[in-house]
Amino acid sequence: MTRAPSPRWLRWPDDDTTPRFAYGADYNPEQWPREVWDEDVRLMREAGVNIVSLAIFSWARIQPAPGTWDFDWLDEIMDLLHQGGIAVDLATATASPPPWLTTLHPEVLPVTQSGETLWPGARQHWRPTSPVFREYALRLVEKMAERYADHPALTAWHVSNELGCHNIYDYSDDAARAFRVWLTERYGTVEALNHAWGTAFWSQRYTEWEQILPPRLAASHPNPTQQLDFKRFSSDALKDHLRAERDLLYGITPDVPVTTNFMVMGETKGMHYADWAQEVDFVSNDHYVHPGPQGLDELSFSANLTGSLAGGRPWFLMEHSTSAVNWQAVNVAKRAGELARDSLLHVAHGADAVCFFQWRQSAAGAEKYHSAMVPHAGADSEVFRSVAALGGLLGDLAEVAGSARRPARAAILFDWESWWASEQDSHPTSLLRYRQEALDWYSAFLALGVRADVIHQGAPLDGYDLVVAPVLHVVPRALAKELANYAESGGHLVTTYFSGVVDENDHAWLGGYPGALRELLGIRIEEFAPLLDGESVPLDDGTTGTLWTDRITVTDDAVEVLAAYNGGDRAGLPAITRRTVGTGSAAYVSTRLGAEGLRGVLARLLAGAGITSELPEPLRGRVELAVRAHGEAEYWFLVNRTDETVGLAGVTGTPLTPAAEGPLVLGPRGVAVVRR
Ligand code: GLA
Repeated sequence: MTRAPSPRWLRWPDDDTTPRFAYGADYNPEQWPREVWDEDVRLMREAGVNIVSLAIFSWARIQPAPGTWDFDWLDEIMDLLHQGGIAVDLATATASPPPWLTTLHPEVLPVTQSGETLWPGARQHWRPTSPVFREYALRLVEKMAERYADHPALTAWHVSNELGCHNIYDYSDDAARAFRVWLTERYGTVEALNHAWGTAFWSQRYTEWEQILPPRLAASHPNPTQQLDFKRFSSDALKDHLRAERDLLYGITPDVPVTTNFMVMGETKGMHYADWAQEVDFVSNDHYVHPGPQGLDELSFSANLTGSLAGGRPWFLMEHSTSAVNWQAVNVAKRAGELARDSLLHVAHGADAVCFFQWRQSAAGAEKYHSAMVPHAGADSEVFRSVAALGGLLGDLAEVAGSARRPARAAILFDWESWWASEQDSHPTSLLRYRQEALDWYSAFLALGVRADVIHQGAPLDGYDLVVAPVLHVVPRALAKELANYAESGGHLVTTYFSGVVDENDHAWLGGYPGALRELLGIRIEEFAPLLDGESVPLDDGTTGTLWTDRITVTDDAVEVLAAYNGGDRAGLPAITRRTVGTGSAAYVSTRLGAEGLRGVLARLLAGAGITSELPEPLRGRVELAVRAHGEAEYWFLVNRTDETVGLAGVTGTPLTPAAEGPLVLGPRGVAVVRR
């Protein structure tokens, strides 16, 4: 490796450090005739755009044949953008290999679990571990870097695009070879691997590395540790690709920051972004709203977690949509106000760049019905007017750029390993959804008007008075110790069903559940009692549990039962417990209560930790508060979560945003930013 990434932000042309938000989009000029480019730059300026991501899918255009390069068009558009005052986040263009490459080398194509080849015709059809693909990709990166090293528009490098969006799991022979290398590094000997994988089970004992394969389609449940390791390996394999491109770029353009766009959103779970975040100069994320009752909460959750991955520093919203996407079952158009609200909610959680997919809506191709900054209707459209208004607003908010997010007193602990392991097959239930449980807790925080940071496992806990670690399934000994220390020294830990159950090898901790957390929680569970789909159990606090229950025995005098089951064969048994530990506590919620059901429990747990809402009473639940700060100034972002007008009585400070209906009133879906 050339050198480790350091926290750096965009290098603006002329090294101009005036605080500003980056605003723009993916730009695909190769889809348009030359005369459109001039109009593009003119409209970009009109909309306040100051950055675009260029050349993401341009490989086939840049390298039309193995030894042929065509940069003329890219030179021209780079110059044109620069003359227009628009900086370029330049892609390495390796995201999607051209047809000549896959014809020449079909061995770069990924293979599914059941042995089918993923053929060209869409995009990202390459094996992360293919040495052939790597060679061609790096040659392209080198050409790009050499060509544009000194171009004044170049402000950052954008490695590939959404690494792992379609090719995270590849079961090819290349993958098998690379998996064995990865396993050799992790375990050293086949014997150690046999132990970790528990191969005494079902006659799986290996005697040679060559016998080991990715968990390809098998007769029954594949070995769980093999599956978990394959997930770890697959994330690492793409991370390795990221590092290979990055190191080449660092060698040629050491002063240009390097990023790649993550997908912290929804159920995209293959890439361990807490681990990847160390590999880039600044974190970038793509986010698309899933319409539905928790859609906005999910946006906030993802933005919040991205802020944690960025270590509280500014991050880059590389893609979101101005309106509908093309890839959901029904692609809903955004309502008035949602374009700006969604963007500003990312900014509230630390984004210093607001970009969309894409600049101009494609006339052809699979994404022709995906919204853009300039829709099919053209600039004379509501979408473009909203885009231009947002550009103006971000300009007005420039002083906020560069500020860090102000940590909350409470946090939700998010753990990729537990996400992966808790949802594997042959478990007590196949209905458990890790991220949904975490999101439900987040929604409960929002409903109570209490800020919570969504932090990744490994981030320091000591600044938080209360940490909720939902379904913390994988708890190695060191983590158990860290959590015990946290509670001993005054922290209030909350965890839930199916937590503490296994170690890093996915082996059950013995002696009763919740395994590694049993003593800390002061409870013991001999057998899980999951519920059938549609089944529910009442609790004596008026809530209803679904999905899961436990038959809990309290084993410590310092445990208080906060709620008990109130029906069925669990009637009278503890459902929610809290043990006093040192100056803190450790609580356990044994069933799924859902976002609404968690409110009451969370309110009690917060009271126990001495945490109250920073919002005036009438705003709680109706308005989300996020806080950024630098120097003396603190910026409150107040986001209307409702479709009604909400008055901000009781909020003091200087508004930086003109609210729709007066300075301290939020219109439906409105956002106010207040300096305090
Ligand atoms: C992803 C990709 C883009 C585009 C959008 C559409 O985020 O990176 O190229 O396909 O999805 O939503």
